[in-house]
Amino acid sequence: MARIYYDIDTSLSELQDSIIGIIGYGNQGRAQALNLRDSGLSVRVAARDQSPSGAIAIKDGFETESIERVAANCDVLAIMLPDEVIADVYKASIEPYLTSGRSFVFAHGFAIHNKIVSLPDDADIILVAPTGPGRKLRSLYIEGKGLPALVAVAQNGSGRAFEKCLSYALGIGSTRAGVIETTFSEETVTDLFCEQSVLCGGVPALIKASFDTLVESGYQPELAYISCLKEVKLIADLLFERGIDGMRESISTTAQYGSALAGEELVDDRTRHKLKKILRRIETGEFARSFLATEGEREATIENLLASEKRSRLARTGKDLQTKIQF
Ligand SMILES: NC(=O)c1ccc[n+]([C@@H]2O[C@H](COP(=O)([O-])OP(=O)(O)OC[C@H]3O[C@@H](n4cnc5c(N)ncnc54)[C@H](OP(=O)(O)O)[C@@H]3O)[C@@H](O)[C@H]2O)c1
Repeated sequence: MARIYYDIDTSLSELQDSIIGIIGYGNQGRAQALNLRDSGLSVRVAARDQSPSGAIAIKDGFETESIERVAANCDVLAIMLPDEVIADVYKASIEPYLTSGRSFVFAHGFAIHNKIVSLPDDADIILVAPTGPGRKLRSLYIEGKGLPALVAVAQNGSGRAFEKCLSYALGIGSTRAGVIETTFSEETVTDLFCEQSVLCGGVPALIKASFDTLVESGYQPELAYISCLKEVKLIADLLFERGIDGMRESISTTAQYGSALAGEELVDDRTRHKLKKILRRIETGEFARSFLATEGEREATIENLLASEKRSRLARTGKDLQTKIQF
């Protein structure tokens, strides 16, 4: 059984006397800094020179400081940088300025699970990984709610790392909803696997292939676009609210019967084999190695994907429809 913690299981007292340095003021960094500050904790924001996000932090009322200064002066260092830059920024601007007894907070287990940074032996290494984007973390916090998070401790230098971890999760609002205890490895593997197999890899690939199938067979692209892409939200909402069984109860008998046939046909033993291959690539570190080692190639792969999607009939149809129909 998963161990789940709520507001009642923690308090801010673990961090009340600490200064929390937020390094990286992007998606997660901004939301976490604002939530922690609104929770009454002491927050400083680090930004590099000429940083666009540093300018946003100043607008939000923070006085930004260099990463080096924050590394030297803050008790808790929240590493809210893109995963691919963490190693370089840590080596150049954090490690040389550290003194003993720091707590490091990560929003994703990637850097620690894949051993791309080596933190001091006396440090706390804490994971508080919100289960959604920073904007959602912030908007729910403002509404008095919270975004669930996954929490873990990889190293307990202070002897109080898990208590600090829950306290941080309270500060960003996540214990209002509930936080689930995990490990850095489990969070990393499950997160990467699901974004590749379902959320950002599998579902968009299925949408594109299904749209192309209809259009190549002579059906109107506008209809194909609405059925294959726009209606995903309706089903996603049902899945989110009621699970797969609840979704099935809410659709027509025709859809129930059709999905029973097509679902099994699409996800057969070959697909399951491919899913296992994707999982192994993540578990063995092969994915992380290629992601981190191939700078240049990595950007090119991403740019090619984005460019081909921008040029696609699917994207053109969507853009055109957006001006004609109010969804
Ligand atoms: N995005 C999400 O929804 C999400 C959800 C859960 C967990 N996470 C995790 O949260 C962490 C942060 O991800 P994110 O998406 O929030 O990152 P992000 O928005 O891409 O981070 C941007 C921030 O990092 C700074 N930055 C980028 N490269 C830098 C460099 N070389 N040196 C110094 N600063 C640099 C940027 O500063 P400038 O403005 O100066 O460029 C900006 O403040 C990651 O571990 C990620 O896996 C993200």
